[in-house]
Amino acid sequence: MSLQDQLVALSDAFYQRLSEAQNAETFESLRIDFFGKKGRLKTIMKTLGDIPKSEMPKIGQQINVVRDELTKAFDQAFGSFKENLEKARLKAEKIDVTIPGKIPATGVYHPITQTIRLISDVFIGMGYQIAEGPEIEAISYNFDRLNIPSGHPSRDERDTYYLNDVHCLRTQTSPVQIRVLEEQAPPIRIICPGKVYRPDTPDATHSPVFHQIEGLVVDRGVAMSDLVGTLNVFAKALFGPQTHIRLRPHHFPFTEPSCEVDVTCWKCGGKGCPTCKHEGYVEVLGAGMVHPNVLKNSGVDPEIYSGFAFGIGVERTAMARFNIDDIRHFYDNDLRFLMQFK
Ligand code: PHE
Repeated sequence: MSLQDQLVALSDAFYQRLSEAQNAETFESLRIDFFGKKGRLKTIMKTLGDIPKSEMPKIGQQINVVRDELTKAFDQAFGSFKENLEKARLKAEKIDVTIPGKIPATGVYHPITQTIRLISDVFIGMGYQIAEGPEIEAISYNFDRLNIPSGHPSRDERDTYYLNDVHCLRTQTSPVQIRVLEEQAPPIRIICPGKVYRPDTPDATHSPVFHQIEGLVVDRGVAMSDLVGTLNVFAKALFGPQTHIRLRPHHFPFTEPSCEVDVTCWKCGGKGCPTCKHEGYVEVLGAGMVHPNVLKNSGVDPEIYSGFAFGIGVERTAMARFNIDDIRHFYDNDLRFLMQFK
């Protein structure tokens, strides 16, 4: 076989193997087979047999040309093989930083809790402090010391859960007034959010357990106008700046004078609509000037000090604010209802 033919055969074999090489090992064995010390290029020389010395440079040059060509082809193919390998590695390791993170499922504060916090914030902003009292309350605190006489209808067993001769479940947060008057000297400015209990059959507007926020302010020279101003701030903060309040004369044994307080319906602004049952107003609290007997019962001189008190119905406020038509929704623990307050 002529040198020419041998080189062509070698090239063909090389390109065949090169086209089949697809991993580092095959590339490496290809390199050794063709370019190695005992590789095919080197071997060709031997198969040529005796060559006249004068021919050597020419033959050597021919072989060199082929070797250079094959080497170039090898380097190129091996180069792009490594490049593709690197690309594939980077692609496999790629992280997509634009994928949104997993949002953990979170709950939501109960609308009653939200309402209590909202109201509390309003009064804390006016310098009030938060007071607390027990839900199991002394009958004397819940009634007697609040100037509620023994025959009063609210003391009836149909209106109060009695636990024994001394204790009942508080029917209102007002006994906290007594506790605060006992512990603090005027000036007093507190609110007390909490649960209260009355033996009512549940319906759209009644629940045997509900929430009130008691307010008590006692200082020198506190007047009814202070109460009205304070309640206006509360009403506007909760129901919007266009809201105003209406005071209706009422009777509570522990305040004198007493009133029930309505706010203009947030939906119709006072014209009357289905939300306010065509009243234009929604009742949200009871209030009044602290009765002198209540102050006296706790050792505060009504000749020096005066004060006002109020009891906000939390459920009522929440129902008016969120347009809820049935108080029982608050206690059903139905997530479809509760998750709306997110
Ligand atoms: N305790 C009263 C009630 O439960 C509300 C109230 C509180 C009224 C304070 C006047 C002053 O209805």
